[in-house]
Order: sequence, then C-alpha cells, then structure tokens
Amino acid sequence: MSKTIAVLVGSLRKDSYNLKVAKILQQIAPSSLSLKIIQIGDLPLYNEDIDTDTPPASYSRFRKEVAACDGVLFITPEYNRSVPAVIKNAIDVGSRPYGHSVWAKKPTAIMSVSQGAIGGFGANHALRQSLVFLDMPTMQQPEAYIGGIAASFDDKGNLADKTKAFLQTFINSYADWVNKLA
Ligand SMILES: Cc1cc2nc3c(=O)[nH]c(=O)nc-3n(C[C@H](O)[C@H](O)[C@H](O)COP(=O)(O)O)c2cc1C
Repeated sequence: MSKTIAVLVGSLRKDSYNLKVAKILQQIAPSSLSLKIIQIGDLPLYNEDIDTDTPPASYSRFRKEVAACDGVLFITPEYNRSVPAVIKNAIDVGSRPYGHSVWAKKPTAIMSVSQGAIGGFGANHALRQSLVFLDMPTMQQPEAYIGGIAASFDDKGNLADKTKAFLQTFINSYADWVNKLA
C-alpha cells in the first residue's frame, strides 16, 4: 500500500512555480508514495487566543489531514532569504496544542524553488531549523535548490528535461527515505 505524503506549498499564487513543481512531483512519484497537496492559505495567523477548545475549523481540518499522512514534503519559494510566512504559520498551527504536534517523527524532505540564482537556499535552511525542534527526520541528500525556475519552463508549460530528471532523482530518494522510516 502506498504511503500518503502531505505536500505543503509555500506560495499561494495561482500561477506559482512551486505549485507547478509540486504537481509534477505528484505525477512522477514512485507508486509507493501518494502526494496530497494540503491547503494552508486559509489558516488564520497563529494566535493562542483563538486556539481554544473550539479552534478555527481550518486549524482542525489541517491538523487532521497532516496527522493522517505518513510523511511531509515542503515545496517552497524563498521570501527575503527566509521561509515564507504561510509555511511558518502552517508549521506553528500543526505544532499546537502543546504536546499534540502533528509533525513528530514524520519523514520529511524540502525542495526550494525560486526564480533567483541560488534556488531558495536561505528558505530551505531556515525551514530546517524548525524541523529539528519538531523532531522531523529530514532527508539530507540530495539537497534540492531549484534556481532559475521561470527559464526552466517552455511556452507550453513543459519543464526542461534536465530539471525533470533531477526532480525524479529527488522524489525517488525521498521514497527510499520514507520506506526506511515510516
Ligand atoms: C515577498 C517576496 C520576497 C522574495 N524574496 C526572494 C528571495 O529572498 N530570494 C529569491 O530567490 N526570490 C525571492 N522572491 C522571488 C521569488 O523567488 C519568486 O517570486 C517565485 O516565483 C515565488 O515562487 P512562486 O512562483 O511559487 O510564487 C521573492 C518574492 C516575493 C513576493
């Protein structure tokens, strides 16, 4: 049976390159993985005052969906050399209530996707700092900093073969990582 992976995309933009890459990964993932993109754009900014016994419905929906998954895959742009607020907010929502984090022990991987030359390295590593604390075993290799993403798509929306081949290597390695740990 395939393992279900929660995919969190760090851009809410309709034409997001990160979303495009996430969708390609969904298509090319080995059959041992089923990638499920989980909505994070509707989560109110984390505030302990609203996280009561009756939290916002979106908090409950998000926590339930992630808890039911076997692993987590972050596909994220870099905003100002760090991780976009929507991803950090989703991490914070999933980490509470205290003692009931949905993240612990889930095999994780990160791919940063950027129009810039350094492929979102800053976001990729800023994110790793939170994952250490949340006890998420995170794949180390291959590192995935996908730079110059706009130029990697042609006018018909096809991704360059070289980039697609790297995406395949990445998702195959992640499948191995999940199979070892989940
Ligand atoms: C607020 C903001 C900050 C950004 N900061 C960076 C940055 O630090 N490094 C970078 O490579 N690109 C940066 N960008 C450009 C993004 O890489 C680019 O907009 C990318 O396409 C966003 O991903 P998306 O296509 O999935 O929305 C920034 C974009 C925005 C909107």
